[in-house]
Amino acid sequence: MEIKNTEDFNKHIKRVLVSEEEIKAEIKKAAAKIDALYDGRPILLVSILKGAFVFMADLCRAVTVPCEIGFMCAKSYYSGTVSTGVVQITMDLDRDVSNYHLVIVEDIIDTGRTLNDVVKMLKARNPLSLTVITLLDKPSRRLVEFEADISLFTIPDHFVIGYGLDCAELYRNLPYIAEYTEN
Ligand code: IMP
Ligand code: MG
Repeated sequence: MEIKNTEDFNKHIKRVLVSEEEIKAEIKKAAAKIDALYDGRPILLVSILKGAFVFMADLCRAVTVPCEIGFMCAKSYYSGTVSTGVVQITMDLDRDVSNYHLVIVEDIIDTGRTLNDVVKMLKARNPLSLTVITLLDKPSRRLVEFEADISLFTIPDHFVIGYGLDCAELYRNLPYIAEYTEN
């Protein structure tokens, strides 16, 4: 994939899978679920970078419970669009989570490996509670058993881009979620 101009960039966007309006509507519902779940208790939203940064930005402005935000960087290595199954924490949270209700904010659950590892690690630090919310879920691709507590969209086995999700670091800035095509 060599992107030299807007034309190169655009030709890999096959079709819009989830529109801006649909994302907005589902975030509103998901935020209401979080509000109901915590009922005024403060939470710590933890976003897994980089993919979840856009979702996090919209979700944190839609919840009304008192909320702090934190970031972690977990890399699941991809060669092109294929997962290689290696998960590494390249940036950890900057605080002790034992006094927090944690809400892990993820962009997509694919094989399930990233969240399976991250959740195991965070649970070992004894937070008050832990909930996982994901924007997208590709259940047909699961290699380890993992379910999010809240999932906004279930999608078929397509490689998707936009709204934070990348292909070789590009396309994160698309305001919608699209299907990626190689040519
Ligand atoms: P998992 O560990 O296989 O569940 O993969 C999770 C991570 O892989 C996500 O946080 C994404 O960063 C990345 N990923 C999985 N599927 C896609 C996709 O379709 N487009 C872009 N990134 C993806
Ligand atoms: Mg990624």
